[in-house]
Amino acid sequence: MNRQPSGRGRPRSRSPLPLSLRRKPVPWDRQRPTWRDARPSLIASALKRAQARPSGNWYVVGAASDLDDSRPLARTVAGREVVVWRGSGGRLQAGPGVCPHLGAPLADSPVRCGTLVCHWHGLALDGSAFGGWEPFPAFDDGVLLWVRLDEVGGEEPLEAPVVPERPSPAHALSAVYEGTGVCEPEDVIANRLDPWHGAWLHPYSFVDLTVLGSPGGVDSPDRLDVEVSFKVAGRLVVPVRATFTAPGPRTVIMRITEGEGAGSTVETHATPLAPDERGRPRTAVIEAVVAASDRPGFAFVRRAAPLLRPLMRTTAARLWRDDLAYAERRWQLRSTARFPG
Ligand code: FES
Ligand SMILES: [Fe+2]
Repeated sequence: MNRQPSGRGRPRSRSPLPLSLRRKPVPWDRQRPTWRDARPSLIASALKRAQARPSGNWYVVGAASDLDDSRPLARTVAGREVVVWRGSGGRLQAGPGVCPHLGAPLADSPVRCGTLVCHWHGLALDGSAFGGWEPFPAFDDGVLLWVRLDEVGGEEPLEAPVVPERPSPAHALSAVYEGTGVCEPEDVIANRLDPWHGAWLHPYSFVDLTVLGSPGGVDSPDRLDVEVSFKVAGRLVVPVRATFTAPGPRTVIMRITEGEGAGSTVETHATPLAPDERGRPRTAVIEAVVAASDRPGFAFVRRAAPLLRPLMRTTAARLWRDDLAYAERRWQLRSTARFPG
C-alpha cells in the first residue's frame, strides 16, 4: 500500500471526550481537491478485485429486526421472487415467493405457528420441499438476513455467507437502512470504494477527510485507510480513523479503527432487484450500522436504542440520498458508454 503524506496524519489518541473543536475550519470550497488521488483506474481495479471475491451466492435480503412471527419478508432478487419467514423455533426459512399450487404471491400470505399459509387456498409450507417448491438456504446473522440463490449467483456455493466481524451484540447498537437505486450493485460498491468524495459530497456529515493509504498493486489487500471527522454541529466534530474493505463482490465494510466508537462497523450490501418498468436495473442498498463504544454512558445509549435507531437510519438516509445519486449517475453513464473511468 502506498502511504501518502497527510497533513493531519497523526494517530488519534483517546481524549476524555469524543468531541473535538475544529480550530481552523476550512470552508467547503477551500478544502484540498481530492480528484487527483481518486484515480478512476484505482477505483475500477479495486472494484474488479472485489467482484472476483466469492460470495458463495449469498444475498442480503433485509434486517433481522424487520421480521416478526406473523408475516414473511419478501424481496425480488435479480428478478426472482423470494420469501423468508421465521419457522418453528424462530429458524429462518426461505424459498420462492410463488405458491406451487396456482402461483399466489406468498409475499401476501401470513405465517401461522411457523408455517407460511397461502392466502388463496390455504396450502401450508413449513420450509421443506413441496409440490415443486424448493426451499433456499437461509441465514440469520442476528443483524441481517441472507438467502443463497445458486441459480442467480452461479458461483461455487458456500455453506454460510461471509459475515463481517462485528462488535459483540451485548456492547453494540445496530440499525439497518434500506434504499433503492436505479443502478447495478457494482455502482453502489464503486461509490463506497471512493472515500475521496466524502467531505466534498457530504459536507453536512464529514470534514477534514484524508485518505491515508490506497490499494497498491493487483495482489495487495484492498484496504483504504481514512482519517475523517464526523460533523456534529458547527465546529464540533468527532475525529476518527476508519478502514474500508470489500470482502465480497457486493459488500463494503467501513470499520472505525481509532477514535470514538473504535470497532464500530458500517456494512453496505448491494442486492440486485427486479428491473423497473423501463427495464432499468434496480439495486437495494442494505446498510447495517453496528455502533460500539466502551464509554460508560454507552449502556444508557443502548437502552435508548428504540429512539436512536431511527436517528441512525435518518443519518444513513441523508448520506445515501447523495450516494445513490452518484451510483445512479455512474450507471447512466456506463449504460450509454459515456463513463469516463
Ligand atoms: S395458490 Fe396457493 S394454495 Fe392455491
Ligand atoms: Fe458517500
